[in-house]
Amino acid sequence: MKTRILGTGSFLPPGVVTNNDLGRMMDTSDEWIVQRTGIRERRWVEGATTTTDLALEAARRALESADVAAGELDMIIFATLSPDHEFPGAGCFLQAKLGVSGIPALDVRQQCTGFLHGLSIADHFIRAGTYKKILLVGAEIHSKGLDKTTRGREISVLFGDGAGAVVLGAHEGREGILTTHLHADGRFARELWVKAPTQAVSGERINAEMLAAGEHYPQMNGRMVFVNAVKKMPEALKEALDAAGATVNDVDLFVLHQANTRISEMVCSQLQIPREKFFSTIEKYGNTTAATIPIGLDEAVRSGRIKPGMLVATAAFGSGFTWASALVRW
Ligand code: UT7
Repeated sequence: MKTRILGTGSFLPPGVVTNNDLGRMMDTSDEWIVQRTGIRERRWVEGATTTTDLALEAARRALESADVAAGELDMIIFATLSPDHEFPGAGCFLQAKLGVSGIPALDVRQQCTGFLHGLSIADHFIRAGTYKKILLVGAEIHSKGLDKTTRGREISVLFGDGAGAVVLGAHEGREGILTTHLHADGRFARELWVKAPTQAVSGERINAEMLAAGEHYPQMNGRMVFVNAVKKMPEALKEALDAAGATVNDVDLFVLHQANTRISEMVCSQLQIPREKFFSTIEKYGNTTAATIPIGLDEAVRSGRIKPGMLVATAAFGSGFTWASALVRW
C-alpha cells in the first residue's frame, strides 16, 4: 500500500507587487532583485485576509480535483510559519472553516521544508492504516511581517504570500509517495529567524525596544543560507533517488522549493538536471516558504507538465536549518 496524491489546489491573492513597487518603499531596484534572485513580482494580500483564508481556497480546489468531500477527511496537516494567531494553530482555524470538526488538525512549523515534513507525516499515517484521507496545506502570509524599509531589503524582496494544498489517500499500485527524507541542524537556528517575541528575555516576550530594533521581523545571514542550500538540497535529492533506486534521468520533473533562482540553478548544475526538467514559479511569486512546493505541484499538474505515471522529485532547504526531499510516482 502507498500514499497517493489524489488532487492538488492552489490560491494566490490577486494583489501583484512588482520589484518597481518595492523600489518605491525602500532603496532597491528591479535590476538588483532580478539579477540576484530571479524574482520579478510577488503577491501580497489586502485587508484583514489571513493565512487560513488563502489555505481554505487552496484546500477547496484540492478537494475538488481529488473528488473528495471535506467530510471524508480524517486529518488536516497545516504547514506554515505565518499562522493567523500565535495559538492555536492554523490547522484548527482551517478545520472550522471547512466545517469538519472532530478530526485532528496538526500544525507543522518547519518553514521552507514544512510541506515535505507534512508529506512524510501524512505518508506514515496512511501507510500505517491510521487514516485514509489527509488534507495537507502549505500557506503563508509574509507581507504582514516584513520590514518594508531599506533596513529590511535583503529579506523583504524575497518573500510572497500564497497557498497550496494536496489531498492524500491510500492506494494499491505503483503510483504514490516512494520515499521521504527529513533533516535539521539547529546549530544554525539563528541564521534565518524571527528573534521576537521571545522567552529569552526577562519580563514580557515583546517590548517597545524590541519593536524599535525590528526584532519582530525576519533576520537572515543570506550568504550562510545560500551556501548551505546549494549543498544540502542536492544531498537530499540524491538521498531520495538512491533510496528509490532511481537516477536523475528517471525523473520527469523536479518541483523544488525556490528561494532564489541562483540556488536552483546551482542545484540543477550539480546534479546535471536539464533546465526543461525544472519547474519554476519564483519569477511571479517569490519565495512562499511552505507554500512553494504545493503551488508548484498544482501549477505543474494543471498545465500538463505532470501527468499520471510520471516520476516527480522534490526537495527544500530553509530556516532551522532544515532540509528534506521526496520522490513521488504520480
Ligand atoms: O528559503 C530559504 C530562505 N532564504 C534564502 O534561501 C536566501 C539565501 N540567500 C540569498 O538568496 C542571497 O544571499 C541574497 C539574495 C539574500 C543576497 O544576495 P547576495 O548576492 O548574497 O548579495 P550580498 O549579500 O552580497 O549583498 C550585496 C549588496 C550589499 O551591499 P554592499 O554591502 O555590497 O554595499 C547589500 O547591502 O547588495 C545590497 N543589498 C541590496 N541592494 C538592493 C541587499 N539587499 C538589497 C536589495 N536591493 N534588496
